[in-house]
Amino acid sequence: MNPQASPLTVAETYLIQQNWSAYTPEQHAVWAELVRRRMPQLHRHACQEYLDGFDQIGLREDTIPNLAEVNKRLGPRTGWNATPVSGFLPPDAFFEMLAARQFPTTTWLRSRDSLEYTPEPDIFHDVFGHVPMHAHPVFADFLQHYGKVCAHLTDSAGGTAKDKLERMGRLFWFTVEFGLIRQNGEIKVYGSGLISSHGECTRVLAGGCEVKDFDLDAVLNQEFDTGEMQPVLYAVESFTQIYEATKQAESRLG
Ligand SMILES: [Fe+2]
Repeated sequence: MNPQASPLTVAETYLIQQNWSAYTPEQHAVWAELVRRRMPQLHRHACQEYLDGFDQIGLREDTIPNLAEVNKRLGPRTGWNATPVSGFLPPDAFFEMLAARQFPTTTWLRSRDSLEYTPEPDIFHDVFGHVPMHAHPVFADFLQHYGKVCAHLTDSAGGTAKDKLERMGRLFWFTVEFGLIRQNGEIKVYGSGLISSHGECTRVLAGGCEVKDFDLDAVLNQEFDTGEMQPVLYAVESFTQIYEATKQAESRLG
């Protein structure tokens, strides 16, 4: 659980410090605008675990999160940390960090003229979109285990490992990034791509995409396009289901 117990090797070179005091009033105002745009819909349509996590890790509407402060609250709950990194990580570094319960977190923030979409993740996508779920014990264990399985696959050379990693990438996409869950007879969102995107979330909630029951085989075989709105998504019944599915994938692919 303690990151000191799992020192990073390949990811080490991507770690940076978050210079929180360097954010400008305009950047804090953009963060506030982004949060204000999302919260009314999320209060109605995000899963309860996301909303609880948002409060538990102390996210605020008016200021960009200080990751050290977030980690003071998150670490004792589940052993996860939001760890600042310089940008996109290669797969081996990314999975090494997940396996060590360290979520690679960008520190830059989109500008006011691209509130809805950025091609690369920023701190709004990473922290507002992802990190609240890491306060939930089952989701926390699932994500760490996912990282461990994929880290193991990246260690194995050869073409079949590449194919297996592509399949595991689909499991990530249709859960962590675009996952839906049924709660109290309704479809709720928990995937960061839906949490952090007003347009895509609105389209999905309005029935603009097919929602299928989560099925591991279907997900492992479902191709996706990162640049397009999603034509099909998968709804789970519980977070235990994705943790169990990851273990099942491990025994099949690992
Ligand atoms: Fe993401």
